[in-house]
Formats: sequence, C-alpha cells, structure tokens
Amino acid sequence: MKNINCIVNGEKVSRNIPDDMSLLTFLREELGLTGTKQGCGSGDCGACTVIVDGKSVDSCIYPAVLADGRDILTIEGLEKNGELDRIQKAFVEHAAVQCGFCTPGMIMSAYALLQDNPNPTEDEVRRAISGNICRCTGYQQIVDAVLSLNM
Ligand code: FES
Ligand code: FES
Repeated sequence: MKNINCIVNGEKVSRNIPDDMSLLTFLREELGLTGTKQGCGSGDCGACTVIVDGKSVDSCIYPAVLADGRDILTIEGLEKNGELDRIQKAFVEHAAVQCGFCTPGMIMSAYALLQDNPNPTEDEVRRAISGNICRCTGYQQIVDAVLSLNM
C-alpha cells in the first residue's frame, strides 16, 4: 500500500492505495468518479482518458501511485456551477454523442488539444483524437464539434 496525495478536479485528495491500482480504478472506485469509462483496459481505446498535469493520459494503464503530487482533471471537473463547459456544449450542439461511451475520453483529448493549440486544423483535431475509438458517430460530428471552438 502507498499513500498518495493529489488534486482531483481542484480538490485535495489523500488515499492509501495498493501499489498496482490503476488511475482509472482509483478515480472510479476510490473517488466514485464514474464519468471516466473503462473500455479495453489496455491503452488502446481512449475511453479512460483524463488529464494529468495538463497532458492527456490513458488512465487504465497509468499507475495511480504516479498520480502522487499531481493535478488531475476528469470529465466531472469541466462543468462549472451546473453549466457544461464549451467543449461539452459543442458536442451536444453538433450531435457528436450517440451511445456516449467514448464521449468523456474524447472530450478530455479535445481539452488537452485546445489547451496547447486553441485553433487546430482538421488534421490536428483528427490526430489529437486518433487514440480515441468511437463505434457510433463516424467521427465527423466530433471533429466538427472541436473545430467549432476555433477562436
Ligand atoms: S480503457 Fe483505457 S485505453 Fe481503453
Ligand atoms: S458515441 Fe458511442 S462509442 Fe462514441
């Protein structure tokens, strides 16, 4: 067991966790933040994407012990005062959500992209979400939603 201290969605968190726990399990089972989804569990689908210190990571293969001292943002951290954030709104407006399973991970990948590059090209958007698999939408509405946020 190891004690970790981190910030999750702006709140200080401290927990004793098993050494082999993934960040995904930590978020979902220790903190009850079930917005982050488990798909493949092996780093291939992007459903579990969260932001750690400003970078997107696949939380299913990211050891929770490495989150010690870090700042983590999950899909639950985007909404402010009951208002969806602009990426979430764009996904709704562009019908970029069908079953919704990929959506939290897609939105977190888009968040990481837009932090680094507020005016991405279509190619840059497609590259940024290339690690996120969607079985439903055909991707175009997702790309359109992200591009609509260009300043
Ligand atoms: S569940 Fe983590 S990449 Fe698929
Ligand atoms: S909306 Fe169903 S997997 Fe993307």
